[in-house]
Amino acid sequence: MGDFDHLLTSPEYAQNPYPVYRQLREQAPVYWSDLWGCWILTRYDDITASLQDYQHFTSLGRLTATMDLPEPLWEQVQPLIRHYSQGLINVDPPAHTRMRQLVHQAFTPRTIRKMAGYVETIVDSLIRDVIDQGQMDIIWDFSYPLPVRVIAELMGIPLEDHERFKAWSGKIVEFMATPKPQPEVLLGSQAALMELQQYFRDIFRQRRASPQDDLISALVAVEAEGDRLTEEELVSTCVTILIGGHETTTNLIASGMLALIQHPGEMQRLRESPELAPSAVEEFLRYEGPFQRNRRIATEDVILGDQYIRKGQLVMQMLGAANRDPSHFPDPDRLDITREPNKHLAFGYGPHFCLGASLARLEAPIAIQSLMKHLSDIQLATADVVWINTVFRGLKSLPVTFIRKVSP
Ligand code: HEM
Repeated sequence: MGDFDHLLTSPEYAQNPYPVYRQLREQAPVYWSDLWGCWILTRYDDITASLQDYQHFTSLGRLTATMDLPEPLWEQVQPLIRHYSQGLINVDPPAHTRMRQLVHQAFTPRTIRKMAGYVETIVDSLIRDVIDQGQMDIIWDFSYPLPVRVIAELMGIPLEDHERFKAWSGKIVEFMATPKPQPEVLLGSQAALMELQQYFRDIFRQRRASPQDDLISALVAVEAEGDRLTEEELVSTCVTILIGGHETTTNLIASGMLALIQHPGEMQRLRESPELAPSAVEEFLRYEGPFQRNRRIATEDVILGDQYIRKGQLVMQMLGAANRDPSHFPDPDRLDITREPNKHLAFGYGPHFCLGASLARLEAPIAIQSLMKHLSDIQLATADVVWINTVFRGLKSLPVTFIRKVSP
C-alpha cells in the first residue's frame, strides 16, 4: 500500500481534501496512517458498515483511548477521560438506547418546530443589521450568531454568555483535532470542559428549583419507568448539544453560501425556486459537510475491506469522503441543489445519527432562503478563502459584498 501520510499533512489537503480522499478511496480505501495512528476509511459502504456495527466498532473511549499518555498526565486528565466515557455520544447500545430514549422525551419534534418563528426573527434582525452596509462577513455577522442564539434559546441559557460558550467549545474541541494531542492542548481542553460542566451544574440546580419552558428543564425532569438521566449523563449530553448545536450549523450555512457563490447557476436556480432551499441544504451537507472525521474503536480483530484491523485500533470515518463516493453519488464533485437521491452521511449513520439534524434542517434553509430574498449580487470580497479542516470543516471567515434587495 502506498504512503499517503504526506498528503494528509499537505497545505492543499486542508484547503481541499477531496482529491486526497479520492486517491485514498481508489488506492487504499482502508488505510493505516502512521502519522495519525489510525485506520482511515474513505468508502461509503465501509463507513456505514462500521457505524452500524457497534459491537465491533465502539464509541466508548473513541476520543481518549488511543492517546497513549505517560502515567502522570494520564492521571491528570482523568476528568476529561471520565467525561468522554459516558453520555449519549460516547456509549453503545443498550446503554445508548436507554439514554437516547430519555433524551428524546425532552428533545421532541414539537420542541424543534417551536423554534421556527424564533429562527426567522433572529435571521431578520441579523440581516437588518447589515443590509445598508453593502458588505458583511457571512460567518461573523450571520452564521455564527444565528445558531448560538437558537441553541441558547432552546436550552434556556442566557444569551449574554455566548462569548463564553464560544471560548469553551473552541477550547474543548481542540484536543479532538488529532488522535494524539499535545499535553498542553489536552490540559487546556480539560480546563474549559470543567468550567462548562460547572456552568451546566449550576443551571441544573436552578431549573430543578424553578423549572422553565426550556430543554434543560425538560432534560432534568425526564423520567421513564423510574429511570432518569444521572447528573453526569445530563452534563455530558448538554455539552454535546451545546457544541454540536452551533459550530456545525455555522459552518453548514457559511460553506453552503460559498458553494452557491462559486456556482452562480445553482444560486440562480435557488433564487428562482426558493422552495428548493431544503434540498439545497442537503446538497451542502453532502458537498461540504461540517463534521468530517468520525471515530470508532475496534472491539476485536476484524476484517474491513481487505484489511485486518486489530482490537483496540482507532478507525477514522471520513464522512466527507463517503459523501463524494461515486458508487453512491453520480458525478460526486458536482454541486446539484436538486440531487436525488442524496443519502449523505453528514449527520452520521446508525444508532448515533445526529440528534440535532432536525434543528439544523430547520435553521439552515430559513437562513439561506432569507439571504437570497434580501440580498442580490452577492460577491466574495476576498481573493483567498481559508478553511479549517480538522474534525470540523469550516471557513475562517467569509467576507462578501452585496446589493440590498428588500429589507426584512
Ligand atoms: C449541520 C449541523 C450538524 C452536523 C453536520 C452534525 C453531525 C453529527 C454527526 C456526524 C453525529 C454522529 C456522531 C457519531 O456517530 O459518533 C452527530 C451526533 C450528535 N449531534 Fe449533531 N450535527 C449537527 C447539528 C447538531 C445540532 C444542531 C445539535 C443539537 C441541537 C446536535 C447534537 C448532536 C448530538 C446530541 C449527537 C449525539 C447523538 C447520539 O450519540 O445519539 N447536532 N452530529
